Amino acid sequence: MKINTFKDPIQVHRAVAKEIIEAIQQRPNLVLGLSTGSTPLGTYAELVKDHQENGTDYGQVITFNLDEYEGLDPNDPKSYRHFMNQHLFGHLNINQKNTHVPLGTGDIEKECRDYEDRIKSAEGIDIQLLGIGINGHIGFNEPGTSFDTYTHAAELSEDTILANSKFFESPNQVPTRAITMGIKSILQAKRIFLIALGLSKAQVIKGMVSGPVSESLPASVLQNHADVTLFLNEEAASLL
Ligand code: F6R
Repeated sequence: MKINTFKDPIQVHRAVAKEIIEAIQQRPNLVLGLSTGSTPLGTYAELVKDHQENGTDYGQVITFNLDEYEGLDPNDPKSYRHFMNQHLFGHLNINQKNTHVPLGTGDIEKECRDYEDRIKSAEGIDIQLLGIGINGHIGFNEPGTSFDTYTHAAELSEDTILANSKFFESPNQVPTRAITMGIKSILQAKRIFLIALGLSKAQVIKGMVSGPVSESLPASVLQNHADVTLFLNEEAASLL
């Protein structure tokens, strides 16, 4: 695991954005795995700024988001599809048809199977961007999730519901279930970038990097991947 530590979040976001932009320049049809939550917002702002100032071309880029809440329509302002359109896709020259976010409504089991097929048809993910939950989740793979999972329907833990209530009026409005890429789907990405910011992530980053590989801390499985880079600010790295 390569660990890049920066003083401030803005430096973290610039470093991640730079890697992504260089990868797109090298491979214009890059397949990018994306995440939501508060952590990648600064990175997305940097990508948008670069596109506006330097014209980085997203015309052939393909994206796959990690997850979506079950029961939320793509037009729902709280859906992850809406989040991605608002913070990233809507500001780039990306073809909406090339942006994939699991559909949280309709036949969920079929959507999970189809999502994996779509990733396969794109010949896999080149770079997967991840955040991390304070309980060690990646995507919505909560502690206890089997390392053998592909895209599946998942129950959110109480910690996650509470953490994600920052995007809702109250915790009881947070959906309790989601579709998420599984641990196996994530590990199949050729490169993985994980961003963590702030003191609240310090403990879990320590466990992920130096603790045992265990389903009780899902992100620890990243120790088994050959090309993982962590992008941390000093606070998140403070217990390493
Ligand atoms: C979001 C996702 C989650 C978040 C994690 C951290 O698509 O997959 O695993 O990355 O919950 O969320 P924030 O960034 O809000 O701390």
